[in-house]
Amino acid sequence: MQIKIIDFKILGDERGSLISLEEHKNIPFEIKRVYYIYGTKNGVQRGFHAHKHLKQIAVCVNGSCKFLLDNGKTRESICLDKPSKGLLIEDMIWREMYDFSDDCILMVLADEFYDERDYIRDYDKFLKVIQ
Ligand code: TYD
Repeated sequence: MQIKIIDFKILGDERGSLISLEEHKNIPFEIKRVYYIYGTKNGVQRGFHAHKHLKQIAVCVNGSCKFLLDNGKTRESICLDKPSKGLLIEDMIWREMYDFSDDCILMVLADEFYDERDYIRDYDKFLKVIQ
């Protein structure tokens, strides 16, 4: 599986750093939703689902965490550890998140509103649907 990383341009000067995210520019879709995960307790794993029709970009804006991505054929892991690194996750990718640092703030941009009907939360069902 080809993990898709988008390196965001850092607009830095002597005051510090700034990153700007714009739909259909450095974000390759319409941004309908933003959510963030923080205060994650030690040892917690999250995700464990795929989406039928959802594009997302995950950015660790503080701290770090790891993603395991699975397309039904191969599994790959990646560490998100800087605010300039965006992970693109497209339709029908099983994801698990783990190894959250105490200070991790994981921000996710999505091209659809939250809809529980879009989730596949059962791994065996995911494998059947992906066939
Ligand atoms: P959950 O799907 O368990 O998060 P993750 O898989 O990323 O660890 O979501 C936790 C709760 O938040 C669950 O009740 C659904 C709700 N939720 C929303 O209401 N809106 C959202 O955009 C998201 C991502 C979750």
